[in-house]
Amino acid sequence: MAMAEVGRTEHGGSNRQALSDDDAAGRALFTGWAVAAGCTVETDEIGNLFVRRSGSDDAADPVLIGSHLDTQPTGGRFDGVYGVLGGLEVIERLNDLGVATERPIEVAVWTNEEGSRFQYSMMGSAVWAGRLGLAQALDMVDSEGVSVGAELDRLGWAGQREARPRSYAATFELHIEQGPILEQRALDIGVVTGVQGLRWFTIDITGFPAHAGPTPMDVRRDPARAVAAIIEEVYAAVEGFAPWGRATFAQLSSSPISPNTVPEHLSCTLDIRHPDLGLLDELEGKARSIVADVAEWCGVEARITKQNDSPPVAFDRRCIEAVADAAGAVGLSNVEMVSGAGHDACYVAVHSPTSMIFVPCEHGLSHNEAERITPDQAERGASVLLGAVLAMAGTKTGATR
Ligand code: HGY
Ligand code: MN
Ligand code: MN
Repeated sequence: MAMAEVGRTEHGGSNRQALSDDDAAGRALFTGWAVAAGCTVETDEIGNLFVRRSGSDDAADPVLIGSHLDTQPTGGRFDGVYGVLGGLEVIERLNDLGVATERPIEVAVWTNEEGSRFQYSMMGSAVWAGRLGLAQALDMVDSEGVSVGAELDRLGWAGQREARPRSYAATFELHIEQGPILEQRALDIGVVTGVQGLRWFTIDITGFPAHAGPTPMDVRRDPARAVAAIIEEVYAAVEGFAPWGRATFAQLSSSPISPNTVPEHLSCTLDIRHPDLGLLDELEGKARSIVADVAEWCGVEARITKQNDSPPVAFDRRCIEAVADAAGAVGLSNVEMVSGAGHDACYVAVHSPTSMIFVPCEHGLSHNEAERITPDQAERGASVLLGAVLAMAGTKTGATR
């Protein structure tokens, strides 16, 4: 709740967009808590933050816990934040109990997971995993033309540590489900086996500007008519990919800014998702052919450009079992499931055995200021994280720190 006060919105949500002053304030608050818990702190070239609790075998591959502190513009108080603070809670609990783990434990705060301000989601973990070039990430700009690199410099976040993979024994990300399954089935814990693929596109349509009054409807080359048809036909097409297929249009904007001129340009974003790579390819193909066909009959030019491509991910069976066993050990009902939302764990899984732990959130709501979990749900997820981490980090019986 103290973190929720940083970048608090008027309806009780969070607005700590990546590399903003509020994002920096949230990180400073977290870092202060981590240092107070005896952790060392490091950042890498893209600003990913790593706090570390040493292990009795400090040279061993650590166990990593990670998520994000940046939020959507009208985000909730738990998306990402819960997983970072859950990691800190594990460290503080081990300190309280005087338990030494064999392996070090690290908690990562990945830069720009949301991709709202700088539109590449899971940016920090993608650079770390080698899926996005550091220079390409640093050059990305927000709607004001401010670059990631300039903001990192302004905030002093870019660190010495290379933004490249390090070897971890296991990685766990604790997160709210952001969907309705656990709540509908009255289950305590989601044992996440993988994440569906996501792809982001921009659609740019060019028509012919004309007077809204005298220009007859049948001679117009109107980008608004084209985008209306594209949206309708893509939504109809995604029905054929039920129950997992997803399509989301957003950020529609047109120019010139005038209500009485047929727009010359109109652009929007399209986010498509599916757990199966073949079907995701098929859905992309359908979207592309719809854009081309509609452009033809509307007499406009339309271009669909891919901006982001995070493939479906299958997590590591041993990590999945560690989560399921940890939930069972504390008597929590649990079910294996695939994540509908993208997470940093997708990219970390490229180089580290990984799984995720979900807790239900009210009405499955997220990316909404009303996002909410109860203290009991928060505690249950953190208990499972503790159990899974201990299973992988090992403890010297009776070892104390
Ligand atoms: O887009 C996502 O699924 C995540 O919230 N970045
Ligand atoms: Mn998230
Ligand atoms: Mn999110």
